This record gives sequence, structure tokens and C-alpha cells, in this order.
Amino acid sequence: MIFYRKATLDDIAKMQELVKEEIQNGIILPRSNDEVATNIRSYTLAVNNDKIVGLSALHIHALDLAEIRSIVVDKSLRGQGIGKKIVEMLLDEGRNLGIKQVFTLTYQKEFFLKLLFKEIPKESLPTSKIWADCIRCKHFPICDEISLIIEL
Ligand SMILES: CC(C)(COP(=O)(O)OP(=O)(O)OC[C@H]1O[C@@H](n2cnc3c(N)ncnc32)[C@H](O)[C@@H]1OP(=O)(O)O)[C@@H](O)C(=O)NCCC(=O)NCCS
Repeated sequence: MIFYRKATLDDIAKMQELVKEEIQNGIILPRSNDEVATNIRSYTLAVNNDKIVGLSALHIHALDLAEIRSIVVDKSLRGQGIGKKIVEMLLDEGRNLGIKQVFTLTYQKEFFLKLLFKEIPKESLPTSKIWADCIRCKHFPICDEISLIIEL
């Protein structure tokens, strides 16, 4: 049975294990343990029998703008609604915090369209702080990620 909870510092080693393959594939950005620790309150996890099987983070960029980051679900459990549930929980968290818009940069356009995100041109994303991480991306400077946004 899958349950969902916020991450704690004790989870970081297992979180890194879950994201490792997608980092190697260049699908999500690498983040050091210290960086994950600094942002630990932004992460929501899916857990199955003590094993972390899904994670993502809601990273706040500005007064009314946040980003869904680093979403990964264990390969063997994809297509069962776990990713959707994590995003819905992060959107609820954003609403409770007073966030007005949540965007994501992704290769998984269809997944986010199902969650009612709308595609927008990358250039129209509202703050330049968003691009600070890109230098660490395997694909930099040729970015073929799609940007999508949802109003809360
Ligand atoms: C993207 C990812 C997190 C989705 O998680 P998931 O648990 O498999 O997705 P869900 O089962 O919650 O899917 C929700 C809906 O999106 C659809 N969907 C999911 N991935 C899809 C895809 N690649 N193409 C089309 N539809 C997709 C599902 O069919 C489902 O539709 P439904 O509600 O009509 O049944 C998962 O595939 C993953 O970890 N991928 C590798 C990492 C990655 O690409 N992360 C994105 C960062 S760019």
C-alpha cells in the first residue's frame, strides 16, 4: 500500500537512490545532499513498505510563483497514479501557501497536460531566477524541455 508524506533529512540517501538513473539519463538535474537538505521541506514522497517509490518538490521562486521539480516514480510502479497524486499534493500545498501559479520544465508534456497544466513558451516564464540551474544540465545550452503552467 502506497502512502504519501513530506520528506525528512533521514530520507535523503534513499531519495538520491531513486533519482540516480534519471539523472544519468539527463532527465532531471543532479542535486547534492546539502542542496536537498536545504530544500527538504519542499519534497513530498510516495512510500511503499518503507521504500521511497516517488518524489517531487514544490520550489518557491517568487511571491506568487512556484515550480514542480524533480518528479520521479519508481520504474516498476509507473502508470498507477503515483506521480499524479504527488503533483496534486504539491499543488494543494501551494494553494495553502498562497501561491498563484505553478510551472514546470519537463520532457513529460502529456503527464502534465492531464493534470490541467497548459503549455507556454519558455520565454514567457515570469522570472529569470528560473534559469540559474540550467548551467548544470547535461543538455545546456540546447534545451528541448517544454514549459507548462497552472493557475491555482
Ligand atoms: C513522469 C512520471 C513521474 C509519471 O508518473 P506516473 O506515476 O507514472 O504517472 P501517473 O500514473 O500518475 O499518470 C497520470 C496520468 O498521466 C498519464 N501519463 C503519465 N505519463 C505519461 C506519458 N509519458 N505520456 C502520456 N501520458 C502519460 C497517465 O496515463 C495518467 O493518465 P490517466 O489519469 O488518464 O490514467 C514517471 O513516468 C517518471 O518517473 N518518469 C521518469 C522521470 C521523468 O521523466 N520525470 C519528469 C521530469 S522531466
